[in-house]
Amino acid sequence: MYPVKSRAKKKLWGGRFDGKTSSVMERIGESISFDKRLYKQDIRAGLAHAKMLSRIGVLSAEEFRQIESGLAAITKEIEEGNFRFIPELEDIHMHIEYRLTELKGDVGKKLHTARSRNDQVAQDVRLFIMDEIKSISPLLITLLEIIVSKAKNSVEIIMPGFTHLQVAQPLRASHYLLSYFWAFFRDFERIRIAYDSCDSMVLGSGALAGVNYKTDRLFMQKELGLSSSSENSIDAVSNRDYILEFLFAASQFMIHASRLCEEIIIFSSVEFGFISLPDSLTTGSSIMPQKKNPDIAELIRSKSSRVIANLNHVMILLKGLPMAYNRDLQEDKIPLFDTTDQLRISIEGISEMISGLEFQTKNLENSLKKGYATATDLADYLVSVKKIPFREAHELVGRLVSVCVTKEKNLFDIGESDRKKISEHFSGDGYFSAISLENSADKKDVFGGTAKKRQIEQISLAERKIKDLKKIKF
Ligand code: ARG
Repeated sequence: MYPVKSRAKKKLWGGRFDGKTSSVMERIGESISFDKRLYKQDIRAGLAHAKMLSRIGVLSAEEFRQIESGLAAITKEIEEGNFRFIPELEDIHMHIEYRLTELKGDVGKKLHTARSRNDQVAQDVRLFIMDEIKSISPLLITLLEIIVSKAKNSVEIIMPGFTHLQVAQPLRASHYLLSYFWAFFRDFERIRIAYDSCDSMVLGSGALAGVNYKTDRLFMQKELGLSSSSENSIDAVSNRDYILEFLFAASQFMIHASRLCEEIIIFSSVEFGFISLPDSLTTGSSIMPQKKNPDIAELIRSKSSRVIANLNHVMILLKGLPMAYNRDLQEDKIPLFDTTDQLRISIEGISEMISGLEFQTKNLENSLKKGYATATDLADYLVSVKKIPFREAHELVGRLVSVCVTKEKNLFDIGESDRKKISEHFSGDGYFSAISLENSADKKDVFGGTAKKRQIEQISLAERKIKDLKKIKF
Protein backbone atom coordinates (compact mmCIF):
# COMPACT_ATOMS: atom_id res chain seq x y z
CA MET A 1 0.00 0.00 0.00
CA TYR A 2 1.31 3.46 -0.91
CA PRO A 3 1.89 6.15 1.73
CA VAL A 4 -0.90 8.68 2.26
CA LYS A 5 0.87 11.22 4.44
CA SER A 6 -0.23 14.50 2.98
CA ARG A 7 -3.00 13.01 0.95
CA ALA A 8 -6.27 14.88 0.68
CA LYS A 9 -5.19 17.73 2.93
CA LYS A 10 -6.22 20.04 0.14
CA LYS A 11 -9.38 19.37 -1.88
CA LEU A 12 -9.05 19.01 -5.62
CA TRP A 13 -11.56 21.83 -5.86
CA GLY A 14 -10.04 23.77 -2.96
CA GLY A 15 -8.52 26.77 -4.77
CA ARG A 16 -11.02 29.33 -3.55
CA PHE A 17 -11.31 27.91 -0.06
CA ASP A 18 -9.32 29.04 2.96
CA GLY A 19 -11.30 27.29 5.66
CA LYS A 20 -11.28 23.58 6.35
CA THR A 21 -14.30 21.46 5.41
CA SER A 22 -16.25 20.47 8.49
CA SER A 23 -16.41 16.88 9.52
CA VAL A 24 -20.16 16.68 9.03
CA MET A 25 -19.85 18.15 5.51
CA GLU A 26 -17.35 15.44 4.72
CA ARG A 27 -19.48 12.70 6.18
CA ILE A 28 -22.62 13.85 4.40
CA GLY A 29 -20.76 14.59 1.19
CA GLU A 30 -18.79 11.42 0.72
CA SER A 31 -20.02 8.85 -1.75
CA ILE A 32 -16.90 6.75 -2.00
CA SER A 33 -18.39 4.26 0.45
CA PHE A 34 -20.82 3.24 -2.30
CA ASP A 35 -19.70 4.71 -5.62
CA LYS A 36 -16.40 2.81 -5.61
CA ARG A 37 -18.49 0.28 -7.50
CA LEU A 38 -18.18 2.59 -10.51
CA TYR A 39 -14.40 2.37 -10.71
CA LYS A 40 -14.29 0.24 -13.88
CA GLN A 41 -16.69 2.46 -15.76
CA ASP A 42 -14.97 5.62 -14.51
CA ILE A 43 -11.63 4.35 -15.75
CA ARG A 44 -13.04 3.18 -19.08
CA ALA A 45 -14.69 6.57 -19.69
CA GLY A 46 -11.58 8.39 -18.45
CA LEU A 47 -9.44 6.51 -20.91
CA ALA A 48 -11.73 7.35 -23.83
CA HIS A 49 -11.63 10.98 -22.72
CA ALA A 50 -7.82 10.97 -22.49
CA LYS A 51 -7.50 9.39 -25.92
CA MET A 52 -9.74 12.06 -27.34
CA LEU A 53 -7.69 14.78 -25.61
CA SER A 54 -4.54 13.48 -27.24
CA ARG A 55 -6.29 13.36 -30.58
CA ILE A 56 -7.25 17.04 -30.37
CA GLY A 57 -3.77 17.99 -29.16
CA VAL A 58 -4.57 18.78 -25.51
CA LEU A 59 -2.39 15.87 -24.41
CA SER A 60 0.80 14.76 -26.14
CA ALA A 61 1.12 11.13 -27.19
CA GLU A 62 3.53 10.58 -24.32
CA GLU A 63 1.16 12.19 -21.83
CA PHE A 64 -1.62 9.94 -23.02
CA ARG A 65 0.62 6.88 -22.55
CA GLN A 66 1.38 8.00 -19.00
CA ILE A 67 -2.31 8.40 -18.22
CA GLU A 68 -3.12 5.09 -19.82
CA SER A 69 -0.53 3.22 -17.77
CA GLY A 70 -1.54 5.12 -14.63
CA LEU A 71 -5.18 4.14 -15.06
CA ALA A 72 -4.14 0.51 -15.65
CA ALA A 73 -2.09 0.58 -12.44
CA ILE A 74 -5.05 2.02 -10.53
CA THR A 75 -7.34 -0.71 -11.83
CA LYS A 76 -4.85 -3.28 -10.61
CA GLU A 77 -4.55 -1.65 -7.21
CA ILE A 78 -8.32 -1.55 -6.76
CA GLU A 79 -8.81 -5.12 -7.93
CA GLU A 80 -6.05 -6.44 -5.72
CA GLY A 81 -7.36 -4.54 -2.71
CA ASN A 82 -4.34 -2.25 -2.48
CA PHE A 83 -6.12 0.99 -3.22
CA ARG A 84 -6.71 3.31 -0.32
CA PHE A 85 -10.17 4.85 -0.14
CA ILE A 86 -10.34 8.08 1.79
CA PRO A 87 -13.68 9.76 2.61
CA GLU A 88 -12.15 13.27 2.34
CA LEU A 89 -11.68 12.60 -1.38
CA GLU A 90 -15.47 12.43 -1.70
CA ASP A 91 -16.08 10.13 -4.61
CA ILE A 92 -14.62 7.60 -7.01
CA HIS A 93 -13.88 10.27 -9.64
CA MET A 94 -11.69 12.26 -7.24
CA HIS A 95 -9.98 9.14 -5.97
CA ILE A 96 -8.93 8.03 -9.40
CA GLU A 97 -7.75 11.46 -10.46
CA TYR A 98 -5.89 12.02 -7.21
CA ARG A 99 -4.14 8.68 -7.37
CA LEU A 100 -3.25 9.24 -11.02
CA THR A 101 -1.52 12.43 -10.03
CA GLU A 102 0.30 10.67 -7.22
CA LEU A 103 1.51 8.01 -9.61
CA LYS A 104 2.27 10.14 -12.67
CA GLY A 105 2.78 13.66 -11.36
CA ASP A 106 1.50 16.73 -13.18
CA VAL A 107 0.22 14.85 -16.22
CA GLY A 108 -2.48 13.36 -13.95
CA LYS A 109 -3.73 16.86 -13.33
CA LYS A 110 -4.44 17.26 -17.05
CA LEU A 111 -6.98 14.47 -17.27
CA HIS A 112 -9.80 16.64 -15.98
CA THR A 113 -9.40 19.11 -18.85
CA ALA A 114 -12.71 19.54 -20.70
CA ARG A 115 -14.69 17.40 -18.33
CA SER A 116 -16.77 17.74 -15.19
CA ARG A 117 -17.77 15.23 -12.61
CA ASN A 118 -21.30 15.97 -13.75
CA ASP A 119 -20.85 14.48 -17.20
CA GLN A 120 -18.45 11.91 -15.81
CA VAL A 121 -20.89 10.45 -13.30
CA ALA A 122 -23.74 10.45 -15.80
CA GLN A 123 -21.58 8.47 -18.23
CA ASP A 124 -20.28 6.08 -15.57
CA VAL A 125 -23.76 5.19 -14.37
CA ARG A 126 -24.97 4.57 -17.92
CA LEU A 127 -22.04 2.22 -18.52
CA PHE A 128 -22.58 0.58 -15.14
CA ILE A 129 -26.22 -0.29 -15.86
CA MET A 130 -25.26 -1.61 -19.29
CA ASP A 131 -22.61 -3.85 -17.72
CA GLU A 132 -25.07 -5.07 -15.11
CA ILE A 133 -27.67 -5.89 -17.73
CA LYS A 134 -25.06 -7.77 -19.75
CA SER A 135 -24.36 -10.02 -16.80
CA ILE A 136 -27.94 -10.30 -15.54
CA SER A 137 -29.52 -11.27 -18.86
CA PRO A 138 -27.90 -14.74 -19.07
CA LEU A 139 -29.32 -15.43 -15.59
CA LEU A 140 -32.76 -14.47 -16.84
CA ILE A 141 -32.36 -16.72 -19.86
CA THR A 142 -31.40 -19.59 -17.56
CA LEU A 143 -34.54 -18.94 -15.53
CA LEU A 144 -36.65 -19.08 -18.69
CA GLU A 145 -34.96 -22.35 -19.68
CA ILE A 146 -35.62 -23.85 -16.26
CA ILE A 147 -39.30 -22.95 -16.48
CA VAL A 148 -39.61 -24.54 -19.92
CA SER A 149 -37.87 -27.72 -18.88
CA LYS A 150 -40.03 -28.01 -15.76
CA ALA A 151 -43.11 -27.39 -17.91
CA LYS A 152 -42.03 -30.16 -20.27
CA ASN A 153 -42.02 -32.58 -17.35
CA SER A 154 -45.36 -31.37 -16.01
CA VAL A 155 -47.66 -31.65 -19.01
CA GLU A 156 -49.29 -34.77 -17.58
CA ILE A 157 -49.94 -33.21 -14.18
CA ILE A 158 -53.36 -31.66 -13.69
CA MET A 159 -53.75 -29.04 -11.00
CA PRO A 160 -56.49 -26.68 -9.93
CA GLY A 161 -56.42 -23.20 -11.35
CA PHE A 162 -57.81 -20.46 -9.12
CA THR A 163 -59.78 -17.28 -9.32
CA HIS A 164 -60.34 -15.41 -6.03
CA LEU A 165 -58.11 -18.16 -4.59
CA GLN A 166 -61.11 -20.49 -4.98
CA VAL A 167 -60.77 -23.57 -7.15
CA ALA A 168 -61.82 -22.61 -10.68
CA GLN A 169 -60.88 -25.05 -13.43
CA PRO A 170 -58.31 -27.80 -14.06
CA LEU A 171 -55.03 -26.71 -15.60
CA ARG A 172 -52.11 -28.68 -16.88
CA ALA A 173 -49.21 -27.83 -14.56
CA SER A 174 -47.12 -26.95 -17.61
CA HIS A 175 -49.66 -24.26 -18.44
CA TYR A 176 -49.42 -22.79 -14.96
CA LEU A 177 -45.60 -22.76 -15.10
CA LEU A 178 -45.55 -21.23 -18.56
CA SER A 179 -47.73 -18.36 -17.38
CA TYR A 180 -44.62 -17.22 -15.53
CA PHE A 181 -42.48 -17.85 -18.58
CA TRP A 182 -44.38 -15.17 -20.46
CA ALA A 183 -44.30 -12.74 -17.56
CA PHE A 184 -40.53 -13.12 -17.19
CA PHE A 185 -40.08 -13.03 -20.94
CA ARG A 186 -41.69 -9.58 -21.02
CA ASP A 187 -39.40 -8.57 -18.16
CA PHE A 188 -36.41 -9.57 -20.26
CA GLU A 189 -37.74 -7.34 -23.04
CA ARG A 190 -38.15 -4.42 -20.67
CA ILE A 191 -34.66 -4.87 -19.28
CA ARG A 192 -33.28 -4.95 -22.81
CA ILE A 193 -35.07 -1.68 -23.55
CA ALA A 194 -33.58 -0.18 -20.39
CA TYR A 195 -30.18 -1.14 -21.81
CA ASP A 196 -30.93 0.84 -24.95
CA SER A 197 -31.88 3.91 -22.94
CA CYS A 198 -28.47 3.87 -21.27
CA ASP A 199 -26.69 3.55 -24.59
CA SER A 200 -25.71 7.16 -25.12
CA MET A 201 -22.46 9.12 -24.89
CA VAL A 202 -22.78 12.18 -22.66
CA LEU A 203 -19.14 13.23 -22.21
CA GLY A 204 -18.41 16.68 -23.58
CA SER A 205 -21.45 18.08 -21.79
CA GLY A 206 -19.12 19.39 -19.10
CA ALA A 207 -20.77 20.79 -16.01
CA LEU A 208 -23.91 21.67 -17.99
CA ALA A 209 -23.16 23.95 -20.94
CA GLY A 210 -20.65 21.98 -22.97
CA VAL A 211 -16.86 22.59 -22.89
CA ASN A 212 -14.41 25.19 -24.18
CA TYR A 213 -12.40 22.69 -26.23
CA LYS A 214 -12.83 21.09 -29.62
CA THR A 215 -13.95 17.91 -27.92
CA ASP A 216 -14.56 15.13 -30.43
CA ARG A 217 -17.68 13.57 -29.03
CA LEU A 218 -18.20 11.16 -31.89
CA PHE A 219 -14.72 9.77 -31.30
CA MET A 220 -15.54 9.08 -27.63
CA GLN A 221 -18.87 7.57 -28.60
CA LYS A 222 -17.06 5.11 -30.83
CA GLU A 223 -14.34 4.47 -28.25
CA LEU A 224 -16.98 3.52 -25.71
CA GLY A 225 -18.91 1.44 -28.25
CA LEU A 226 -22.07 3.49 -27.77
CA SER A 227 -24.76 4.04 -30.39
CA SER A 228 -25.45 7.74 -30.06
CA SER A 229 -24.46 10.95 -28.32
CA SER A 230 -26.70 13.14 -26.18
CA GLU A 231 -28.23 16.08 -28.01
CA ASN A 232 -28.43 18.59 -25.17
CA SER A 233 -25.75 19.08 -22.55
CA ILE A 234 -28.16 20.33 -19.87
CA ASP A 235 -30.37 17.29 -20.32
CA ALA A 236 -27.32 15.02 -20.49
CA VAL A 237 -26.09 15.90 -16.99
CA SER A 238 -29.50 16.00 -15.34
CA ASN A 239 -31.25 13.12 -17.10
CA ARG A 240 -31.70 9.99 -14.99
CA ASP A 241 -34.59 8.50 -16.99
CA TYR A 242 -32.44 5.50 -17.83
CA ILE A 243 -32.04 4.69 -14.14
CA LEU A 244 -35.80 4.85 -13.66
CA GLU A 245 -36.33 2.63 -16.68
CA PHE A 246 -33.98 0.01 -15.32
CA LEU A 247 -35.47 0.28 -11.83
CA PHE A 248 -38.96 -0.08 -13.27
CA ALA A 249 -38.01 -3.14 -15.33
CA ALA A 250 -36.42 -4.65 -12.22
CA SER A 251 -39.50 -3.81 -10.13
CA GLN A 252 -41.77 -5.39 -12.68
CA PHE A 253 -39.69 -8.55 -12.54
CA MET A 254 -39.84 -8.50 -8.75
CA ILE A 255 -43.63 -8.05 -8.81
CA HIS A 256 -43.91 -11.19 -10.93
CA ALA A 257 -41.41 -13.00 -8.72
CA SER A 258 -43.27 -11.96 -5.60
CA ARG A 259 -46.58 -13.28 -6.91
CA LEU A 260 -44.91 -16.58 -7.69
CA CYS A 261 -43.35 -16.64 -4.22
CA GLU A 262 -46.71 -15.99 -2.66
CA GLU A 263 -48.08 -19.03 -4.50
CA ILE A 264 -45.11 -21.16 -3.54
CA ILE A 265 -45.67 -20.23 0.10
CA ILE A 266 -49.37 -21.06 -0.08
CA PHE A 267 -48.96 -24.16 -2.21
CA SER A 268 -46.30 -25.64 0.06
CA SER A 269 -48.41 -25.22 3.21
CA VAL A 270 -49.85 -28.34 4.83
CA GLU A 271 -53.35 -27.12 4.00
CA PHE A 272 -52.66 -27.02 0.27
CA GLY A 273 -49.79 -29.49 -0.04
CA PHE A 274 -49.62 -28.87 -3.81
CA ILE A 275 -45.86 -28.65 -4.01
CA SER A 276 -42.84 -29.40 -1.90
CA LEU A 277 -39.57 -27.55 -1.92
CA PRO A 278 -36.26 -29.37 -1.54
CA ASP A 279 -34.57 -29.31 1.89
CA SER A 280 -31.80 -27.21 0.38
CA LEU A 281 -34.17 -24.28 -0.09
CA THR A 282 -36.02 -24.42 3.20
CA THR A 283 -35.16 -23.74 6.81
CA GLY A 284 -36.20 -25.19 10.14
CA SER A 285 -37.37 -23.56 13.32
CA SER A 286 -35.20 -23.17 16.39
CA ILE A 287 -38.10 -24.20 18.59
CA MET A 288 -40.60 -26.21 16.50
CA PRO A 289 -38.97 -29.42 15.33
CA GLN A 290 -41.58 -30.21 12.67
CA LYS A 291 -41.11 -26.99 10.68
CA LYS A 292 -39.92 -26.69 7.11
CA ASN A 293 -40.31 -23.06 6.15
CA PRO A 294 -40.22 -21.55 2.65
CA ASP A 295 -37.98 -18.67 3.77
CA ILE A 296 -36.45 -18.17 0.34
CA ALA A 297 -39.86 -17.37 -1.16
CA GLU A 298 -40.70 -15.08 1.74
CA LEU A 299 -37.40 -13.25 1.40
CA ILE A 300 -37.77 -12.73 -2.34
CA ARG A 301 -41.30 -11.47 -1.67
CA SER A 302 -39.85 -8.95 0.77
CA LYS A 303 -37.03 -8.01 -1.58
CA SER A 304 -39.68 -7.05 -4.10
CA SER A 305 -40.87 -4.34 -1.69
CA ARG A 306 -37.33 -3.11 -1.42
CA VAL A 307 -36.83 -2.95 -5.18
CA ILE A 308 -40.15 -1.16 -5.71
CA ALA A 309 -39.16 1.26 -2.94
CA ASN A 310 -35.87 1.88 -4.74
CA LEU A 311 -37.77 2.90 -7.87
CA ASN A 312 -39.97 5.13 -5.76
CA HIS A 313 -36.89 6.54 -4.03
CA VAL A 314 -35.35 7.72 -7.30
CA MET A 315 -38.64 9.05 -8.67
CA ILE A 316 -39.11 11.16 -5.54
CA LEU A 317 -35.47 12.21 -5.61
CA LEU A 318 -35.83 13.51 -9.16
CA LYS A 319 -39.20 15.18 -9.22
CA GLY A 320 -38.28 18.48 -7.61
CA LEU A 321 -34.84 19.08 -9.08
CA PRO A 322 -34.21 22.23 -11.09
CA MET A 323 -31.99 21.92 -14.15
CA ALA A 324 -29.23 20.87 -14.30
CA TYR A 325 -27.01 18.89 -11.90
CA ASN A 326 -27.85 18.90 -8.19
CA ARG A 327 -25.95 17.05 -5.54
CA ASP A 328 -29.09 15.09 -4.64
CA LEU A 329 -28.25 13.03 -7.70
CA GLN A 330 -25.30 11.54 -5.86
CA GLU A 331 -27.74 9.44 -3.86
CA ASP A 332 -29.40 7.82 -6.89
CA LYS A 333 -26.70 5.19 -6.81
CA ILE A 334 -27.67 3.71 -3.46
CA PRO A 335 -31.06 2.42 -4.67
CA LEU A 336 -29.60 1.58 -8.06
CA PHE A 337 -26.86 -0.63 -6.65
CA ASP A 338 -29.23 -2.26 -4.21
CA THR A 339 -31.70 -3.07 -6.97
CA THR A 340 -29.06 -4.70 -9.18
CA ASP A 341 -27.97 -6.88 -6.25
CA GLN A 342 -31.49 -7.84 -5.21
CA LEU A 343 -32.54 -8.50 -8.79
CA ARG A 344 -29.60 -10.78 -9.46
CA ILE A 345 -30.02 -12.86 -6.31
CA SER A 346 -33.79 -13.07 -6.76
CA ILE A 347 -33.45 -14.40 -10.31
CA GLU A 348 -31.12 -17.08 -8.98
CA GLY A 349 -33.46 -17.90 -6.10
CA ILE A 350 -36.53 -18.17 -8.31
CA SER A 351 -34.60 -20.39 -10.72
CA GLU A 352 -33.62 -22.81 -7.97
CA MET A 353 -37.10 -22.91 -6.51
CA ILE A 354 -38.69 -23.72 -9.84
CA SER A 355 -36.17 -26.38 -10.69
CA GLY A 356 -36.42 -27.92 -7.20
CA LEU A 357 -40.15 -27.87 -6.59
CA GLU A 358 -42.15 -31.07 -6.86
CA PHE A 359 -45.86 -31.33 -7.51
CA GLN A 360 -47.84 -33.49 -5.08
CA THR A 361 -50.23 -35.03 -7.56
CA LYS A 362 -52.50 -36.80 -5.05
CA ASN A 363 -53.24 -33.53 -3.24
CA LEU A 364 -53.77 -31.72 -6.53
CA GLU A 365 -56.36 -34.29 -7.53
CA ASN A 366 -58.12 -34.13 -4.15
CA SER A 367 -58.36 -30.40 -4.37
CA LEU A 368 -59.71 -30.53 -7.94
CA LYS A 369 -62.41 -32.92 -6.80
CA LYS A 370 -63.18 -31.12 -3.58
CA GLY A 371 -63.42 -27.83 -5.45
CA TYR A 372 -65.82 -29.22 -8.13
CA ALA A 373 -63.31 -28.02 -10.71
CA THR A 374 -65.20 -29.53 -13.64
CA ALA A 375 -68.63 -28.09 -12.83
CA THR A 376 -68.35 -25.75 -15.82
CA ASP A 377 -67.52 -28.70 -18.07
CA LEU A 378 -70.59 -30.51 -16.84
CA ALA A 379 -72.74 -27.50 -17.68
CA ASP A 380 -71.11 -27.26 -21.12
CA TYR A 381 -71.86 -30.98 -21.61
CA LEU A 382 -75.55 -30.35 -20.89
CA VAL A 383 -75.48 -27.55 -23.43
CA SER A 384 -73.67 -29.34 -26.24
CA VAL A 385 -74.93 -32.92 -25.82
CA LYS A 386 -78.28 -32.49 -24.09
CA LYS A 387 -79.16 -29.27 -25.87
CA ILE A 388 -80.08 -27.43 -22.67
CA PRO A 389 -79.68 -23.62 -22.67
CA PHE A 390 -76.57 -22.55 -20.74
CA ARG A 391 -78.39 -20.60 -18.01
CA GLU A 392 -80.51 -23.66 -17.24
CA ALA A 393 -77.51 -25.97 -17.34
CA HIS A 394 -75.68 -23.65 -14.94
CA GLU A 395 -78.66 -23.81 -12.55
CA LEU A 396 -78.85 -27.64 -12.68
CA VAL A 397 -75.14 -28.09 -12.02
CA GLY A 398 -75.34 -25.51 -9.26
CA ARG A 399 -78.05 -27.58 -7.59
CA LEU A 400 -75.98 -30.71 -7.95
CA VAL A 401 -73.04 -28.98 -6.31
CA SER A 402 -75.30 -27.84 -3.50
CA VAL A 403 -76.41 -31.44 -2.84
CA CYS A 404 -72.75 -32.55 -2.91
CA VAL A 405 -71.90 -29.88 -0.34
CA THR A 406 -74.69 -31.05 1.98
CA LYS A 407 -73.79 -34.71 1.61
CA GLU A 408 -70.02 -34.07 1.79
CA LYS A 409 -69.51 -35.64 -1.61
CA ASN A 410 -67.85 -34.51 -4.81
CA LEU A 411 -69.02 -34.73 -8.42
CA PHE A 412 -67.26 -38.09 -8.73
CA ASP A 413 -68.67 -39.92 -5.70
CA ILE A 414 -72.17 -38.48 -5.42
CA GLY A 415 -74.59 -41.36 -6.05
CA GLU A 416 -76.46 -41.72 -9.34
CA SER A 417 -79.87 -41.61 -7.61
CA ASP A 418 -79.03 -38.25 -6.06
CA ARG A 419 -77.93 -36.98 -9.45
CA LYS A 420 -81.06 -38.21 -11.17
CA LYS A 421 -83.24 -36.43 -8.61
CA ILE A 422 -81.92 -33.17 -10.00
CA SER A 423 -81.87 -34.16 -13.65
CA GLU A 424 -82.13 -37.28 -15.79
CA HIS A 425 -79.26 -35.85 -17.80
CA PHE A 426 -76.82 -36.54 -14.95
CA SER A 427 -76.98 -40.29 -15.51
CA GLY A 428 -75.05 -42.52 -17.88
CA ASP A 429 -71.39 -42.60 -19.00
CA GLY A 430 -71.58 -39.17 -20.57
CA TYR A 431 -71.64 -37.73 -17.05
CA PHE A 432 -68.24 -39.13 -16.06
CA SER A 433 -66.61 -38.21 -19.29
CA ALA A 434 -67.97 -34.68 -18.81
CA ILE A 435 -66.45 -34.28 -15.36
CA SER A 436 -63.12 -35.97 -16.19
CA LEU A 437 -60.21 -33.76 -15.22
CA GLU A 438 -58.15 -34.70 -18.25
CA ASN A 439 -61.02 -34.19 -20.66
CA SER A 440 -61.71 -30.84 -19.13
CA ALA A 441 -58.15 -29.75 -19.79
CA ASP A 442 -58.01 -31.12 -23.30
CA LYS A 443 -61.23 -29.50 -24.38
CA LYS A 444 -59.59 -26.11 -23.86
CA ASP A 445 -58.15 -26.53 -27.30
CA VAL A 446 -57.62 -22.89 -28.21
CA PHE A 447 -54.29 -21.23 -28.91
CA GLY A 448 -52.97 -20.38 -25.44
CA GLY A 449 -55.33 -22.86 -23.76
CA THR A 450 -54.61 -25.70 -21.35
CA ALA A 451 -55.16 -28.69 -23.70
CA LYS A 452 -52.23 -31.07 -23.94
CA LYS A 453 -51.84 -30.37 -27.65
CA ARG A 454 -51.67 -26.65 -26.86
CA GLN A 455 -49.10 -27.25 -24.17
CA ILE A 456 -46.78 -28.94 -26.62
CA GLU A 457 -47.34 -26.02 -28.98
CA GLN A 458 -46.62 -23.46 -26.24
CA ILE A 459 -43.50 -25.24 -25.09
CA SER A 460 -42.01 -25.18 -28.56
CA LEU A 461 -43.01 -21.55 -28.96
CA ALA A 462 -41.25 -20.74 -25.68
CA GLU A 463 -38.19 -22.63 -26.85
CA ARG A 464 -38.10 -20.61 -30.03
CA LYS A 465 -38.38 -17.39 -28.01
CA ILE A 466 -35.40 -18.42 -25.88
CA LYS A 467 -33.39 -19.12 -29.02
CA ASP A 468 -34.17 -15.60 -30.24
CA LEU A 469 -33.18 -14.09 -26.91
CA LYS A 470 -29.85 -15.85 -27.08
CA LYS A 471 -29.12 -14.12 -30.37
CA ILE A 472 -29.47 -10.66 -28.83
CA LYS A 473 -26.12 -8.91 -28.75
CA PHE A 474 -25.71 -6.46 -25.93
N1 ARG B 1 -20.26 12.17 -6.57
C1 ARG B 1 -21.05 12.99 -7.41
C2 ARG B 1 -22.31 12.24 -7.84
O1 ARG B 1 -22.34 11.08 -7.68
C3 ARG B 1 -20.27 13.36 -8.63
C4 ARG B 1 -20.66 14.65 -9.21
C5 ARG B 1 -20.26 15.76 -8.33
N2 ARG B 1 -20.53 17.01 -8.93
C6 ARG B 1 -20.56 18.17 -8.24
N3 ARG B 1 -20.89 19.21 -8.88
N4 ARG B 1 -20.26 18.20 -6.97
O2 ARG B 1 -23.26 12.81 -8.30
